[in-house]
This record gives sequence, structure tokens and C-alpha cells, in this order.
Amino acid sequence: MVSEQAALLSVNEISKSFPGILALDSVSLTLHAGEVHALIGANGAGKSTLVKIIAGALQPDRGSITINGKTFQVLTPLLARKIGIAAVYQEQQLVPDLTVAENIFLGKEPRTTFGRVDYRRMSAETMELIQTYGLSIQPDYVVGKLPLAQRQEVAILKALKEEAKVLLLDEPTAALTGPQIAFMFRLIEQLRKRGMGILYISHHIDEILSIAQRITVLRNGKKIGTFLAQDVTKEVLIEKMAGRRIESESRFSRKPPGDVILETQHLSINGKVEKASFVLKEGEILGFSGAADSGCKEVLRSLAGLYPIRSGGIKLFGKTFRPRGVADTMQQGILFVPEDMRREGLVLPFPFPKNITLAKLQKVTSRGFILPHREIQAVYPYVSSLRIVAPSPWAETRILSGGNQRKVLLAKALFTDAKIWLLEDPTQGVDVETRQEIHHLLIEARNSGKSILIFSSDLEELLTVSDRIIVMYKGRPTREIENPATVTTQELLSMTLGG
Ligand SMILES: Nc1ncnc2c1ncn2[C@@H]1O[C@H](COP(=O)(O)OP(=O)(O)OP(=O)(O)O)[C@@H](O)[C@H]1O
Ligand SMILES: [Mg+2]
Repeated sequence: MVSEQAALLSVNEISKSFPGILALDSVSLTLHAGEVHALIGANGAGKSTLVKIIAGALQPDRGSITINGKTFQVLTPLLARKIGIAAVYQEQQLVPDLTVAENIFLGKEPRTTFGRVDYRRMSAETMELIQTYGLSIQPDYVVGKLPLAQRQEVAILKALKEEAKVLLLDEPTAALTGPQIAFMFRLIEQLRKRGMGILYISHHIDEILSIAQRITVLRNGKKIGTFLAQDVTKEVLIEKMAGRRIESESRFSRKPPGDVILETQHLSINGKVEKASFVLKEGEILGFSGAADSGCKEVLRSLAGLYPIRSGGIKLFGKTFRPRGVADTMQQGILFVPEDMRREGLVLPFPFPKNITLAKLQKVTSRGFILPHREIQAVYPYVSSLRIVAPSPWAETRILSGGNQRKVLLAKALFTDAKIWLLEDPTQGVDVETRQEIHHLLIEARNSGKSILIFSSDLEELLTVSDRIIVMYKGRPTREIENPATVTTQELLSMTLGG
């Protein structure tokens, strides 16, 4: 039994408060060598805070960390790395302007006999790591230009390079699609077998039940319990996280969609998309499903004016339409909600209500002045329906938990009057309950006449919310699913893999 082994790492009665909130309340847990230990809980439960404390990035108010029999009251990031703790955070710590190899070796660059950075060795060793784990990146790729999923791989490689004994993974699969998730799991399994202890945070309970041996549940900063994965079910865990029973997602009633409002003809984007033709109707949710190189995201982004279109046409409300950037498409009633919210979607130092009103300031201004009370009042319905949890009504967006930041981004979309929404992974990092709530909101918006184009790496989500799904494979639409309710996630996955 795992529970009888000596602990590799133990967290002893850790408490941490931030102004206005007790983020962790005397939390203890152990991590064994060769174990995947999952840490779960609703958005804002304190998971990332705990990970940051173990990795020395945050100091606890009370409590200690024991590793290999040695106890530490205070850790710094440097010390934590030295004693074998590596962390991959929710918000990535990579330097966008540097290459994959430079990021992996940052601060530990090998030197030639003349004291210069030995780029050849750096590149060769990075290549070796990439091949050991069967990744698809190259040492000289610039990290900032990589898609989120591959940046995630670089972050993990960096952790592995440090030869850690304890690996802390904060939502590593949130941005990944089917095959990438399977790949990540194989990687984690390899590491576990080599005796690493892995603390694993995710909102995907099915995933957790398949890879974790033990599961600790946090709720409002308190530990609810640690369970053997074999002893619990998804329903039990969800109930423990929420503190009450949550109804499973019901089928929604849907009005029939209206007329076509957007149409593409043979849309092509350099090297990414070949001749994609489809229509979007009024009051319809059109799902896009595909792997990283499928071109799905590029289709959405070209409609948002972020990618130049090589050939083919777009008709919007019956007229020829050439998207010329996000501001322009917004003017035309099209709203784009990016996946990478911290880089593209949110102004992190702003109070979060400001991020919600940003795209529609007219609603909260009078004679050109923003009225703060009106702003807080105006966003209240969204804050409440999306359950946005923040320490104060003026809290900076930066200090909200990851899932709550995602909700702010969606509230921003709801706040505008846009007729067409282009959504990239709208529930990434969002907890189970809020995910259902968001699905509900999307269907309601659809029933009130909005048209939604959604790409999601979460196949179950696509099948739940979409009226139709277009499957893309290597830049081309290959299938159209007319009735998603009749398709299983397994079937959809095999279609996205070209089957
Ligand atoms: N620097 C900070 N200043 C103030 N409050 C903070 C800070 N960092 C986190 N918090 C608050 O602490 C609480 C716990 O946040 P944490 O990020 O640990 O949640 P989480 O469980 O990781 O949630 P999620 O699933 O959304 O990522 C939240 O209420 C958050 O707003
Ligand atoms: Mg978090």
C-alpha cells in the first residue's frame, strides 16, 4: 500500500493569508516517491497557493515543509530547486524571447573552455531531452512563438532538466487536446516509474482518477481529506469539492437556429488552412474540433482579423467581409475570446471590473468619464452568475485565481453586445460547477440569438454545447457532425485524429 511508505515530501500544517482572504488553513499532506498525488478543489480553493509555497515562490504564514527528512520553515525558489523540487505553474515562467534551449538552461548555461556560452552543447543536450520524451519541438524554436501546448512541454522539460525528485504540475493539461493529453500522461507515468513524486492539479476529474494514486481535496483553503483513487468516484469527489451535491449536466432545450449570418468560401490561410467552407447561423453554436495542426484555431483567429487570409471569401450578414484586426471585427459585432488570456485577453494590473467593461465602456461612462460605482453595479450580474470569487470588488485581476481570471474574460464577452462570439477553450482551468454554469450561459446566449463559434480541446464540452461540429484535420474540414448528441467523445477523438 502506498500509504505505508515513508513520505518523500510532507507539507505540515501550512497556513497562508492574503489581504481579505485565508487562502490556506493549516493544510497537511504527504507525497511518496513513485506516486501521482492529485490536488483538487474549486477555483480559488488554494491549490496554486500551496504549490507556490512548496516551490518556495511564496512564504507561508505558518507551517513547514519536510523533504528527505529535512524540515524547512522557509524555502526560496533557489533552495527548493536545490533540494529537488521543480514546479510548472499555471502562469508560465518561460522567457518568450529566448529559444527552447536557452529557456531550459537559463542561469545554468554550459560554458566553453573560453568561458563563452556553449550553444552547441546546449542545443545537443536539449535535443537529447526532446528525443528521450518524444516531443515535437526543436531546441532553436523561439518560445514566445510556440502555441500554448508546446510552451507547456518546454516548461516540463525545464523541470526535468533539473533532475527533480518532486514535480509540481499546476494544470498541465488545461491547454492540451486528446493526443497531447495522452502524451503528457505517458510522460508522467515514465517519471513516476523512475521514482519521482508528482503533485498534480487538474479540474478534469476523469483524468485524475486515471493517473493518480491518491487525491487530496481542498475547499476554501481547508483540507477536506485525502482519498485513495480506487476508493472514490467522480460524483463523490465533486461533492467533496463543492460541499454539497451537484446535479450532473442536463440536456438543454434549444430553439431551432435562424438564417445564415456568416459564411466562408474556400477560406485559405498560408500553411495552416486549405479551402475551409462553412456557414454559421443566427442562434447557433458551431463547434470546431481538431488537433494542434488542424487549423481550427487559425480559422477562428482569421475571422477575428488576427491572421491574414490568403484566398477565399467571407460573407457577414450577406456582405463581403475582410477582417482587419480585432478592433475592426469588434465594430462589426464579432467578439474574439482568446485562450491565452494572460497574454492576449486581460490587462492583469487593472481591477477586474475594468477588464469586464473594457470592450464596452459606453455602458459605464457619463460625458466621457467612467463612473466606478456604475462599473461595479454593471458587472455585478456577471460576477454573480459566473461565481467570480475575488477578495474585494476592486481587486486587481492579477491576484484572482486562474479559473476566476478565465471567468472575467467570459464576463467581458457577455458584457458586449457582440452578435457573434469566437471562443477559444472558454472553460479551460474552470472548476466543474462553473464549467456547467458556463455551458448553460452559452446555450442561453444562443437561444437569445447569439451565434457562437467555439473551438475547445475539451471534446465532451464540444459535444455538450454544439448544435453542429466541424472536424478539421491538417488544415482541411473533413467531417461535419449534424447531431453531436449521438456521438461519443471516443468517436470524436478518433475523427480528430484523421479516422
Ligand atoms: N497575490 C495574491 N494576493 C491576494 N490574494 C491572492 C493572491 N494570490 C492568490 N490570492 C487569492 O487566494 C485564493 C486562492 O487562490 P489560488 O490561486 O491558490 O486558487 P486555486 O485553487 O489555484 O484556483 P484555480 O482553480 O482557479 O486556479 C483566491 O481567492 C485568490 O484570489
Ligand atoms: Mg490555480
